[in-house]
Formats: sequence, C-alpha cells, structure tokens
Amino acid sequence: MLDYDFSGQVAFVTGAARGQGRSHAVAYAEHGADIVVTDICETLETSDYELASRGDLDKTAELVEETGQDALRIEMDVRDEAQVQAAVEQTLEEFGRIDILANNAGIWNLEYLHEMSEQTWDEMIDTDLKGVWLCSKHVAQHMIERGEGGKIVSTASTAGHGASYRGGHYTAAKHGVVGLTRSFAIELGEYGINVNCVSPTGIDSPMTNGLIEKYGEEAIGELNEYTGSWNVMDDGPVTPQDVTEAYLWLSSDAARYVTGTALAVDAGLMAK
Ligand SMILES: NC(=O)c1ccc[n+]([C@@H]2O[C@H](COP(=O)([O-])OP(=O)(O)OC[C@H]3O[C@@H](n4cnc5c(N)ncnc54)[C@H](O)[C@@H]3O)[C@@H](O)[C@H]2O)c1
Repeated sequence: MLDYDFSGQVAFVTGAARGQGRSHAVAYAEHGADIVVTDICETLETSDYELASRGDLDKTAELVEETGQDALRIEMDVRDEAQVQAAVEQTLEEFGRIDILANNAGIWNLEYLHEMSEQTWDEMIDTDLKGVWLCSKHVAQHMIERGEGGKIVSTASTAGHGASYRGGHYTAAKHGVVGLTRSFAIELGEYGINVNCVSPTGIDSPMTNGLIEKYGEEAIGELNEYTGSWNVMDDGPVTPQDVTEAYLWLSSDAARYVTGTALAVDAGLMAK
C-alpha cells in the first residue's frame, strides 16, 4: 500500500458495511481520514443473496475506530433522496466537511432481460445508478459551497464496458455509472472536484460468494462462456484490497489531473 495522507479529511463511503466498501473505509482511516460508514442494512425484495446487516455496519465502524479515527454510522438507502440528503446534513453537523465520496454501494443478480420483472429492473437501476447520482449530487453541492474541491470515486464494473449474460440490467446501470462519471467530471472540474470510477473484474466478496452459493460455480462458468473468462492473470482471486488501492490513488492529490476516467482493476479482462 502506498503512503497516502488523508489526515484532516472526511470520507463518506456507501455500502460500507462489508466487502469492498469496508475495505475502502478502513483504508481511508488507516491513512488519517474520519469516515462516514453508510449502508442500507437490509435486503431488497428481488435480491439473490442477503445484503449487509446493522451488525456488519457496526463492525466496519469498530475497525475504523481501531485505527484511531472517528466513524459516523448512518443507515441510508442510496435510492432515497431524502435519506441521502439527511445523511449528508448529519455528516456536516458532526464532521463539518466531506472531502471524499466513495460511491461503492451496489447489488447484482442473475436474470435474463426477456424474463426480468419491472421490480428487478427498478431495484437495480435505482441502487447501482440512481444512487450514484443522488449521493454525488448532494455531496457535490457541499463541495462547491465549501470551495476547496474534493474527490468523487464510484464503482462501475467491467460490466460497465461490455455485455453481461444474465445481467443486462446490471450492465445498463454500470454503463450509466461510466457516463455519469464523465458528465459529472466536466461539470465539476471548474470547482476542483475530481470525478472518476473504478471498473473491477469479479471480486472475492460477499456479493460474488452469495451468487455462487445460490446458483453454483457452473452458473458463473456459463456467464464466462459468453463474456470470455474473467481474467488473464491467474495469481488467485482479485480482492477488495486491490480495488481499494485504486480508490486511494484516485482520492489522492497524486491523481490531481485525473478526472472523468474509468480505471480498470480487471487483471486484463478488458484488454482481450
Ligand atoms: N463483487 C464483484 O465481483 C464486483 C465486480 C465489479 C463491481 N462490483 C461492484 O462493487 C461494489 C461493491 O460490491 P461488493 O462486491 O463489495 O458486494 P457486497 O454485497 O459485499 O457489498 C455491497 C454493499 O452495498 C450495500 N447496499 C446494497 N444496496 C444498497 C442500497 N440501496 N443503499 C445502501 N447500501 C446498499 C450492501 O448492503 C452491501 O453492504 C458494488 O457497486 C458492485 O456492483 C462488484
């Protein structure tokens, strides 16, 4: 891990209760930031696997506090503008600022587009795309008003750059995240706000493991037949920490002239 210094800064992390979000939250804290750990802490009706619990959110907060930094715990659904606005206001009351927004919250389920219910479509688009817009909108308003710039990093996916088999709604949402990133970047550049996204390949996280548990390894193998095998490097699973490294760099001044990009952490998948 490179030696970043986020001391005096506040990072607002969505989907922070577990998986990649927990990894990002703890890493920002290890480098000196205070953290707002937010998560929905309940499972959506169309979900193929359990989402995080309040206990998971508390565990992330404890890990942040073990680094010596402060953690503010907020149960927040990224799909709900009133909740997002209230969470940003609560953060400003408690910490006075937000320097980094990490739009990590997301869901994934396996459905054919021609069979999918409207509810499945809506829950996906609302969580994985609208949620990124809502959180970016409210945090950007604060960053503009404060006048000291800021960093917004979102999680897209390799599915944000090509087709998915049994995941067309996920692909549509993640393509949207790439487009939203580019558009926010050109609108917010004049305020010194960098806006980027990270596009991971399959990550060893509760999301992936939940889908494997439900559908079996064969189903994941079937997806790969349509989209090509996931990685060109075989050194073991790509981990949340691998994605965290990209988040840290994009949130640092080392990347001060990097904006509007999608940084692939994909072990070469998209190079093929
Ligand atoms: N796991 C992968 O293979 C993979 C690959 C590429 C991209 N991603 C993306 O990475 C991000 C993190 O996923 P992960 O692998 O850590 O999965 P995860 O399921 O472990 O974590 C996602 C978190 O988001 C939370 N969440 C879901 N819906 C929410 C909502 N409406 N409001 C607030 N919080 C909500 C969940 O409770 C959970 O804690 C997601 O955006 C996902 O789409 C994952």
